[in-house]
Amino acid sequence: MSERKTIFLTGATGFLGSHLTARLLEQRNHLNVLARGAKNVPARDRVVAVLRDVGVSHFENLDVFEGDISVPGLGLSESATRRVLFSTDEVWHCAASLSFQEEDREEIFRMNVGGTRNVLELVKRTSTRRLHHVSTAYIAGSRSDLALETEIDVGQGFRNPYEESKCQAELMVADAERRGAIAASVYRPSIVIGDSKSGRVTHFHGVYAFIRGLWTALERLRRRMPDGGFIKLPLRVLGAETQTLNFVPIDYVVDGMVEIAKNPNSLGETYHLANPIPTENRLWLPHICRVLRVEGIQLVGENSFLKTPMTKLEALFQKQMAFYYQYLQGEPRFDCRRALDALKNTSIECPRVTVDFIDKMAGWYVDFLNNRPQMT
Ligand SMILES: NC(=O)c1ccc[n+]([C@@H]2O[C@H](COP(=O)([O-])OP(=O)(O)OC[C@H]3O[C@@H](n4cnc5c(N)ncnc54)[C@H](OP(=O)(O)O)[C@@H]3O)[C@@H](O)[C@H]2O)c1
Repeated sequence: MSERKTIFLTGATGFLGSHLTARLLEQRNHLNVLARGAKNVPARDRVVAVLRDVGVSHFENLDVFEGDISVPGLGLSESATRRVLFSTDEVWHCAASLSFQEEDREEIFRMNVGGTRNVLELVKRTSTRRLHHVSTAYIAGSRSDLALETEIDVGQGFRNPYEESKCQAELMVADAERRGAIAASVYRPSIVIGDSKSGRVTHFHGVYAFIRGLWTALERLRRRMPDGGFIKLPLRVLGAETQTLNFVPIDYVVDGMVEIAKNPNSLGETYHLANPIPTENRLWLPHICRVLRVEGIQLVGENSFLKTPMTKLEALFQKQMAFYYQYLQGEPRFDCRRALDALKNTSIECPRVTVDFIDKMAGWYVDFLNNRPQMT
């Protein structure tokens, strides 16, 4: 049984943060979480609702502090700050803006860089100065070589302000660590998807937004085809068949981070929680289309649009999916030797993305979309 800790965590209402909080509570730690309130909903109610959704039913080891990472001092009152500083054994920083839009650049940097700076200031004032920082494997940006866990900035370019801001945040963490101001471990998940056993997912980023885009485009057509057969939708998607996307299930990411964090050797280290075998676009896209019961969607290169101009639907889809299209052209390769090594003698293994696995993940989400109450 591991030592019981008091953990200060940001991002508990989010995808990773909620699952991580659930796991850390399950291990009998005390969690002090920083969360924002929403209009008419106090922060605690928001956190409890999200945690219930990921299976938490006991809340006696949970305290919620209303605050905001983008504000100096995290928006905590003096007494709340004292309580946090006095009790904290370690800080887990998951909160971030996951927007990728160029027009949100300022906001993204304020959250991801400014927010991390504010969290670092708090970590420095705790007695242990221990930080677990959640970054992303995609700080590797547009690198085409193998991205190592030991590397951060190798002069790479970035495809969007999210990648760039997360890289800057990591550089700040590394700098504070180098100066001995904090003791940090950094975790870099790739694209996090649902639970490997059930396929269930609670927040719908990344590939789920892509599936939702397709599902929405098909909705109107499907109403005209009540028999539920395959829909023919000739749609060219700009992307390279043999390029990959790197999917990791949420349970692997959370189990992996919690296990690695327990190991004192993780101090000062960085880990790619990425899939050792990324999935080729020509595998996942056709199978997602099969689950959606649609035919005619194909990955094509730029040349195809030079020969035959885009249809209205293709142009609309490309505009709406601009962010995902960036990744369909290719992604960096992530070296995950350190993470694999750290998890070697455990039962924690990243599952290979097979056809069954895609069926489970996409199937769960398509059922969810089909069965959710209709918006009026
Ligand atoms: N999801 C992925 O595929 C993925 C992959 C690699 C890395 N990551 C990293 O994992 C971490 C968590 O991502 P996620 O997928 O869980 O994102 P998410 O579902 O969008 O959650 C983001 C969390 O950050 C909180 N937050 C944002 N701005 C805040 C602020 N100003 N003050 C306080 N809290 C704030 C959000 O709170 P509200 O509920 O109040 O908005 C939410 O709890 C991030 O650092 C992300 O970069 C995610």
